[in-house]
Amino acid sequence: MLILGIESSCDETAAAVVEDGCRVLSSVVASQVDVHHRYGGVVPELASRKHIEAILPVVTDALYQAGLKKDDLDAVAVTQGPGLVGSLLVGYSFAKALAYGLDIPWVGVNHLEGHILSVFLEDDPPDFPFCALLASGGHTAIYYVTGFTEIERMGQTRDDAAGEAYDKVAKVLGLGYPGGKVIDDLAHQGDPTRIRFKRPFLDRNGFDFSFSGIKSAVNRLVQNDPEGMAEQVADVAAGFQEAVIDVLTYKLMQAARSRNCGYVVVVGGVAANRRLRERVSQAGAEQGIAVHIPGLALCGDNAAMIAAAGYHYLQKGRRGKLDDDVYSRVPL
Ligand code: KG4
Ligand code: ZN
Repeated sequence: MLILGIESSCDETAAAVVEDGCRVLSSVVASQVDVHHRYGGVVPELASRKHIEAILPVVTDALYQAGLKKDDLDAVAVTQGPGLVGSLLVGYSFAKALAYGLDIPWVGVNHLEGHILSVFLEDDPPDFPFCALLASGGHTAIYYVTGFTEIERMGQTRDDAAGEAYDKVAKVLGLGYPGGKVIDDLAHQGDPTRIRFKRPFLDRNGFDFSFSGIKSAVNRLVQNDPEGMAEQVADVAAGFQEAVIDVLTYKLMQAARSRNCGYVVVVGGVAANRRLRERVSQAGAEQGIAVHIPGLALCGDNAAMIAAAGYHYLQKGRRGKLDDDVYSRVPL
């Protein structure tokens, strides 16, 4: 089954063609990072306008790279939420219209489920059940996954998402937007033990997180000594990163042990982080738990993961209806 996936929930316009929910024939992502960079974050109105400009070329390119024509498609899967409503509406309306015009089924997909199923687009995916850490700019949560559409949330952040904390700390340190990759790189030049930040919720039972305290601690350091900060910026980045990753790694492995899972999965934009990949892999090797983390192209927002999730819902008989709408928030 050939599915065109479409993703436009935030600041990436993406389209992909995926066969049978697991073979990626093409995956095109048009990033708007240059547009939002100077504002230090995503400007929703600008994002929607850029999606409108990009959606047709991106879909055309995805079909071209897959060597297909639109008539070859069997179905369309599109992100329905959560995300920025104006941005979502661009991809969603496009997908509806395209599927209606081609007279093929289409299905709305939860963006978070897309991230979780991104791991099935790699060779040698995990077996069920597994515990998944989803860490992105908008969400941070741990899930217990027993099937392609059977996903139970075990815990989530009570305030900032991990990626959001990276972005805010980068802003405070004057490193620009988005901050994840910059802090990841800078932290490698710093000493993670020189400035020790508290590990929030590490001592609590359960699988919730809190990252706003670490972000505020960095803020206070900068306010108290802006000059000194310039010299220690790599150590601050390394100390911040180590605190966040300690908590993410510990809670994920704890979750897996609590459910006797032999597999853990790390997905979402923050899964691109080198230190997180290293720490979870190391913990998995020590504890006899197999670790699956998708390649970098599948960590950030993309449409292949939406096509993969859409495939399983289409198989179960879910179909989009013309009067269905997008949603900005969802309790997955
Ligand atoms: O999944 P994603 O592309 O979009 C959302 O659904 O939010 O995640 C974007 C987030 C941003 O906050 C970005 O700073 C973070 O992922 N990120 C990283 C890295 N690369 C991207 N965080 C830490 N280390 C990285 N290497
Ligand atoms: Zn995402």
